Amino acid sequence: MSTEETTRRRVAVVTGASSGIGEATARLLTEKGWHCVLVARREDRLRALAEQLEGEVELCDVGDREAVEAMALGVLERHPAIDLLVNNAGMPARGTYLTVDLDLVRRVTEVNYLGGVWCTRALLPGLRAAAGSAHIVNLVSIAGTTAFAPAGAYAASKHAQLAFSRSLTAALRGSGIAVHTILPGFVETEGFPQKGVLKSRLLGRFVIQPPAVAEAVLKSIEKGKAEVTVPWFPYRPISIVQAVAPGVISRFSGMSDYRPGSV
Ligand SMILES: NC(=O)c1ccc[n+]([C@@H]2O[C@H](COP(=O)([O-])OP(=O)(O)OC[C@H]3O[C@@H](n4cnc5c(N)ncnc54)[C@H](OP(=O)(O)O)[C@@H]3O)[C@@H](O)[C@H]2O)c1
Repeated sequence: MSTEETTRRRVAVVTGASSGIGEATARLLTEKGWHCVLVARREDRLRALAEQLEGEVELCDVGDREAVEAMALGVLERHPAIDLLVNNAGMPARGTYLTVDLDLVRRVTEVNYLGGVWCTRALLPGLRAAAGSAHIVNLVSIAGTTAFAPAGAYAASKHAQLAFSRSLTAALRGSGIAVHTILPGFVETEGFPQKGVLKSRLLGRFVIQPPAVAEAVLKSIEKGKAEVTVPWFPYRPISIVQAVAPGVISRFSGMSDYRPGSV
């Protein structure tokens, strides 16, 4: 191995790095020696973080395929080998399918599901160049396994993203690019201010903070875990009940509604 190879800092591209889970993940990765390329739309937030982390800024709407391809070209020019892609950028979509704005249904699908597909395909040459020790992490959600009625379109986007992630895991088996799926429960962030909007006091007790998810991301890479539910309880049992007895979940999912006015 050449000196250049032994000294090259591992490069991570983190989408949705301007706040919440993405920001916490970029901070933790940097702490562990990774060089981060921070992707999102809010320039001021990204620049401030990039300065702290000595990272790079890429302004990009991940729901816009052409914008993603242009972003990837720029990143690959600077970093022909990419060791890690974290598909984290995402948005909420509250409301049931009876009332949700139909433009929001389209937008949440484009950002939460297709955004990860566009980023993966566009950055795949870089990941292949680091094959052997390359990783893709998809930030899905417990909403990817459980149809939560008060955020129907969000749950559907996350179900699609989970299928994408699992399918990608199988497609890349043996390629030297490992795929990890992270399924967080409720996490307190700007886009998802759970404690303020959740009516269910029971679920409110299980709200966690972004650094806990960042730790799960890192652990999934270090330990080679394909799927991680964080926190495991109560969300993993809920996912299992959804799979084996969907009627039970549909009876209870309406009870854990959001507060009036939060939608
Ligand atoms: N919080 C939860 O309860 C929870 C639970 C499970 C899973 N998740 C998932 O975790 C991920 C991160 O969410 P978070 O809770 O950390 O929320 P957040 O604090 O609102 O962060 C969302 C990030 O995504 C970026 N983003 C949104 N739309 C984008 C777009 N079109 N193009 C590029 N970047 C975009 C935002 O940056 P800009 O606005 O600057 O573009 C921001 O950096 C999402 O995929 C979410 O679905 C969240």
